[in-house]
Amino acid sequence: MLLQVTNLHAATGGKEILKGVNLAVSAGEVHAIMGPNGSGKSTLAAVLAGNPGYEVTQGAATLGGKNLLDMTPEVRAREGFFLSFQYPVEIAGVSNANFMKAALTERRRHQGLPELSPSEFLQRMRQKMALVEMDSAFASRGVNTGFSGGEKKRNEIFQMAMLEPTLAVLDETDSGLDIDALRIVANGINSLKNKDSAVLVITHYQRLLDYVVPDWVHVLYQGKIIKTGTKELATELEEKGYDWLK
Ligand SMILES: Nc1ncnc2c1ncn2[C@@H]1O[C@H](COP(=O)(O)OP(=O)(O)OP(=O)(O)O)[C@@H](O)[C@H]1O
Ligand SMILES: [Mg+2]
Repeated sequence: MLLQVTNLHAATGGKEILKGVNLAVSAGEVHAIMGPNGSGKSTLAAVLAGNPGYEVTQGAATLGGKNLLDMTPEVRAREGFFLSFQYPVEIAGVSNANFMKAALTERRRHQGLPELSPSEFLQRMRQKMALVEMDSAFASRGVNTGFSGGEKKRNEIFQMAMLEPTLAVLDETDSGLDIDALRIVANGINSLKNKDSAVLVITHYQRLLDYVVPDWVHVLYQGKIIKTGTKELATELEEKGYDWLK
């Protein structure tokens, strides 16, 4: 199992948000997590990423059999965990290219791979920016600095494509995207799909799932996964909302 989450409980600000999450993701799969506002979706992503603002009070989470909860956020990233934020942060003064260079070097060192030469790196940048149809001018701009909402989301997918994570968690990457950008972002996600990695997409809308077809759809409700189904479940939720599941 690539990701195994068992009876995970987590709290923040003295309040328990995750109340026993169970989730198993195999390599090669795409899982979608849906659920009403405030149900704990972003919290789950933050806890898996190792955000220090959350305290795990019970349960376990492993990535590739290794205890994820023991690792610092940096080690999780080097192990192949990638989180795309609901609200991507701006880092003024660090160019997109330099940021990616540092992140990729760390990841490759951890994998025992040699650092890419400057020309190999540039080639990879070009290839991955083309994948998400980003203008090359974005390479020299500060990370997300002054980017529009949709450009930030696209940049997140570009970063993901550069790093080739084993587990990518995408928190509402589809929100605020125009129709073309949605398709482009979906292409980026699909291009990552391979037998050794998995994607967890958090979304409110079935729309994205037309392009990125999930193997499994889970409903997170009040800190627990209360239903799991196939992609038809997403359509059903769109029609009926969440009340019928309570
Ligand atoms: N520091 C905090 N103190 C108290 N409650 C908090 C704190 N941080 C988060 N919460 C609460 O945790 C709950 C879960 O939030 P979370 O962001 O995980 O929801 P979500 O499912 O991602 O929602 P959305 O669909 O709106 O993005 C919310 O009710 C939120 O107010
Ligand atoms: Mg959220």
